[in-house]
Amino acid sequence: MAEKFDVVDVIKVKRDGGVLPDDHIDWVVDAYTRGVVADEQMAALAMAIFINGMERPEIARWTDAMIRSGETMDFSSLGKPTADKHSTGGVGDKITLPLAPLVASYGVAVPQLSGRGLGHTGGTLDKLEAIPGWRADLTNDELMTILRDPGCVICAAGTGLAPADKKLYALRDITSTVDCIPLIASSIMSKKIAEGTDSLVLDVKVGSGAFMKDEAMARELARTMVDLGKDAGVDTVALLTDMSVPLGRCIGNALEVRESVEVLAGGGPEDVVELTLALAREMLSAAGQPDADVEKALADGRAMDTWNAMIRAQGGDPEAALPTARHTHDVVADADGVVTELDALALGVGSWRLGAGRARKEDPVQAGAGIELHVGLGDTVTKGQKLFTLHTDDEDRFERALESTLPGVAVEADGVAPERKVIIDRIS
Ligand code: URA
Repeated sequence: MAEKFDVVDVIKVKRDGGVLPDDHIDWVVDAYTRGVVADEQMAALAMAIFINGMERPEIARWTDAMIRSGETMDFSSLGKPTADKHSTGGVGDKITLPLAPLVASYGVAVPQLSGRGLGHTGGTLDKLEAIPGWRADLTNDELMTILRDPGCVICAAGTGLAPADKKLYALRDITSTVDCIPLIASSIMSKKIAEGTDSLVLDVKVGSGAFMKDEAMARELARTMVDLGKDAGVDTVALLTDMSVPLGRCIGNALEVRESVEVLAGGGPEDVVELTLALAREMLSAAGQPDADVEKALADGRAMDTWNAMIRAQGGDPEAALPTARHTHDVVADADGVVTELDALALGVGSWRLGAGRARKEDPVQAGAGIELHVGLGDTVTKGQKLFTLHTDDEDRFERALESTLPGVAVEADGVAPERKVIIDRIS
C-alpha cells in the first residue's frame, strides 16, 4: 500500500519553521515505528524540531501519536487510586525508593515503571538491583498482583509502552537532540500517559546535575508536561527542585539503597526526607488524602514494612547485606574552612567513572561503586577532616574520578555557602 506522505516533505515543513499538521505527525511517528521512515530521516526531523521547536498543539499530537504506537495499561481493576512520580533525573536521586512504599502504605497503588541509568544520573533499577535476588523484569500479571498487595512496584517498563519513543530516544541520544523541551516532554509524558496512572507528580530538576541547567527552561519543561498530562486526563503537578548539589550524602547504587533504608527507618539526610515528604503529600492529595500524616508512616515503620514486602515480592532479600566495593579512597580537607561547593555534576560524573553508571546501554554497573559525602554544603571543617570517600572495585578508576570530583568540591576559609532551597516552586 502506498504511504500517505513523503517523509522528505514532512521534514521540509519543520526545517522551514512551519507547524506540522496533525496528519503529518500521525503518519511520521507511525511510519518510523514501522521502519518505513529511516533513522537518518527521523534524525533530520528531530534536529529540525530541536532548532525550530514545536507549538503546544503539535507537542500534544506528537505525544498522542507516540502513545498510539504501542499498548496502554489499565489499572482500573485494582479498585484503588493510582499515583505515580517521575523525576527528570539527578545525582543521588533515590527518592523513588522511600517514596513508593510510603505512599502505598496509605492504600494508594504506586506503579513505578522505571529505567536504567545512562550517563552521570543513576537509574532506579540499577540501584535496586544492588539488593541480592531483586529482579526488575515482571510480567503484567506479577505487576498487578504486587500492586494489589503490598501496593507498590518498581520495575522495568515493558517494551510495549510507546515503542516509538524507545526508538526515537535511542536516536536522539546519538544525534545530540536530547535536550529539547518538545522532545523531552513528549517522550516522558507518552510513557506516563500510556501507563494509565490516575495522577502524576513530576519532579523537574534544575541545576548542574540536571538536564535543565537553567531555571527558565526547567519551568517551561514543567509547564509543558503538566499541560500534556492534564489534557490527557491525568491529574498532573510538578515540583521544580534543586539539582545543583547531590541529593543526600550517597551517590551510587548500593550506597543509595542504604541511605533510602535509613529514610524509611525514620532517619536519613534532611534534603532527602524533605523531598520525599513533599512528593508523598502531592501524590496522596491527588489520590484523595490531602491530610495524610506522611511523617508518621516513616516514624512508625509502616513505610518500612511496605518496602520489605515490595522487595520480597520481587525476589529480593531486604535483610541481606548490601554489596560493598573492594577499594575505597578518602579525600580530606587540606585547610580549615567552610564547604562552599559540592557540585552535582562533578560528583555525578565522578561516581559514574568509579563504575556506578554506564556509558553504553549494554555496559554492566558496579553495585558497590560510588561516592559517600561526609560533609554538607555550609559545614565548617578542619584540616585533615574527611570530606568524601570514593568506592570502586577497580583501583585504577580513582584517578579519573578525582579529576572530576576535586574541582567540584570547595572549602574556603571564612567562606559562605550559597543558599539552597530544595523545593524551588510548584507548577500546577
Ligand atoms: N527521559 C525520557 O524518558 N525522555 C527524555 O527525552 C528525557 C528523559
